[in-house]
Amino acid sequence: MCGIVGYVGKEQVAPILLDGLSRLEYRGYDSAGIACMENGTIRVNKAKGRLQVLSDMIDGGNAVASTLGIGHTRWATHGKPSDENSHPHMSQKGKFAIVHNGIIENYSEIKASLIADGVQFASETDSEVICNLLEKFYEGDLLKAVKKTVDVLEGSYALGIICHEYEDRFIAVRHASPLIVGLSDKGNFVASDIPAILSYTRKIYHLGEGEIVELTGDKVRVFNSDLEPVIKQAEEITWDVKSAEKDGYDYFMEKEIMEQPRALHDTISPRIDDHGEIVLDGVHLTREDIEGYRRIYITACGSAYHVGMVGKYIIEKMTRIPVEVDLASEFRYRDPIVDDKTLMIIISQSGETADTLAALREGKKRGARILSIVNVVGSSIANESDDVLYTWAGPEIAVATTKAYSTQLSMMYLIALYMADKLELMAKEEIRTLLASLIQVPELVEQVIETTRPQIMELAKQYHGVEHAYYLGRNVDYAVAMEASLKLKEVSYVHSEAYAAGELKHGTISLIEEGTLVVALAGCHRVIEKTVSNIQEVKARGAKVIVVTTEDNTGVEKVSDHVIYLPKVKELFLPSVEVVPMQMLGFYLAKERGCDVDKPRNLAKSVTVE
Ligand code: G6P
Repeated sequence: MCGIVGYVGKEQVAPILLDGLSRLEYRGYDSAGIACMENGTIRVNKAKGRLQVLSDMIDGGNAVASTLGIGHTRWATHGKPSDENSHPHMSQKGKFAIVHNGIIENYSEIKASLIADGVQFASETDSEVICNLLEKFYEGDLLKAVKKTVDVLEGSYALGIICHEYEDRFIAVRHASPLIVGLSDKGNFVASDIPAILSYTRKIYHLGEGEIVELTGDKVRVFNSDLEPVIKQAEEITWDVKSAEKDGYDYFMEKEIMEQPRALHDTISPRIDDHGEIVLDGVHLTREDIEGYRRIYITACGSAYHVGMVGKYIIEKMTRIPVEVDLASEFRYRDPIVDDKTLMIIISQSGETADTLAALREGKKRGARILSIVNVVGSSIANESDDVLYTWAGPEIAVATTKAYSTQLSMMYLIALYMADKLELMAKEEIRTLLASLIQVPELVEQVIETTRPQIMELAKQYHGVEHAYYLGRNVDYAVAMEASLKLKEVSYVHSEAYAAGELKHGTISLIEEGTLVVALAGCHRVIEKTVSNIQEVKARGAKVIVVTTEDNTGVEKVSDHVIYLPKVKELFLPSVEVVPMQMLGFYLAKERGCDVDKPRNLAKSVTVE
């Protein structure tokens, strides 16, 4: 949520900032801006709207002759998207400019006291207090002014700071909002996320909580919040540059859907050894630990929460330990029953989602052991967990997740099988057989993409005019229906809801009328007859029904308008293949409707505010 990039070095800075921001736009795209040092003064260029507006304003960056600057792409929290509310913000006397990601929770009091001191504000943002505090506290020592300022701030903030007295350096701060440092021979960088600087360097520092960093073209000094020096170990990023580019696709979302077989393979195969046994490298749960857990909480937000819903079915079935799935934003404020006999499984692509991180801390405080499934190495959630399992999806850029969801799901199978194995609840042979099927999932997903894509493109053409859609399913089909419905609504703006198929008749069926689109997920064999009855109920009321099922269920043709057939698959792994055509339906329908698929309105990928 909000993207930050900064650079100081030998190169002209503005094109670098624009390039970096273009790779961070998934974090927010309400406005964009840069602040650069030019002959002892700070020059700010910023504009409401997409980055292109800013880029056109400054001739792709060529119009700004500077080698030091900070940039920002905004997801509005305090104050509407406008030129004034865009970052960077300048202090009243023009001595400081800042970019900020996060929320300053005590900004009202700070603002009131600054106004009492005679400061005039130019924007409605919480962020503008930061540059004015810096100006107030600055007495010739930049780092001291930064420390005094952050000591006053409450909330979350990643900051880029430039001061007009320094042509050769800028400062960055990380507190509860992600920020990395990039190191190179041609200069040094800060960024909210790795893709922003991946084409310039692969050598990075992950900043820790409260760390303050001072960057010049050839030196990076990191301090803790008491301004004591911190020795950092540089890390090498192994992502390939192409993984953060569209690589011939029109949209990242489409590319990421297509990348799923590879992402699944990279995530699953290193976890199964040559003897067909599970190796979960980052997990150290013993049989005694697992036997001791009275309950498991799976806690996450958005699509990651939907992974948890599938996870509940799988883990309960295999381990017989009760599993509760919680939205992180609810968990943290509801006095949850957690103690040292609780295992918490935290799921997060970014590893930085504010509510998920807060839920993790709440659970940990109450004694739970934390096992996280994370895609970003070194992220806050990964750092604060007891055990970490990384999904190897690579960078996910589209706001609507696809490959992260799929790889998280594959982790759920592995965790469930790992625990069942440790508890000796299943015969070794049975586990091996299941693992042999799991390893086939990437291929099945590839097959599903190939066989269902043309049909889904046709369906998208036929139904792109709908205003409402209802997704139905039972058991794991219901859990997948939740994700399918979210995919459609977030990228196409079609109003969409998911229901447990048996629940429809308790109210929502009143909304079904002639032509209403219903997508019924009916892959789960044990309940298929029940789901078919529910399909008949909506059909009888005029619904247009698309059924998703496996190729052995041809009977559903009688009750549907269209059937999307999936290859036969073990029921346990059904969600992994079922979700893929649903992602494609959301994508192609949104494309037909002319939506900006990768940057849906009002959304941002990494949600680092509550
Ligand atoms: C945002 C994204 C979703 C994602 C959710 C949780 O809403 O658009 O795709 O599922 O955040 O993000 P996380 O990084 O914690 O998985």
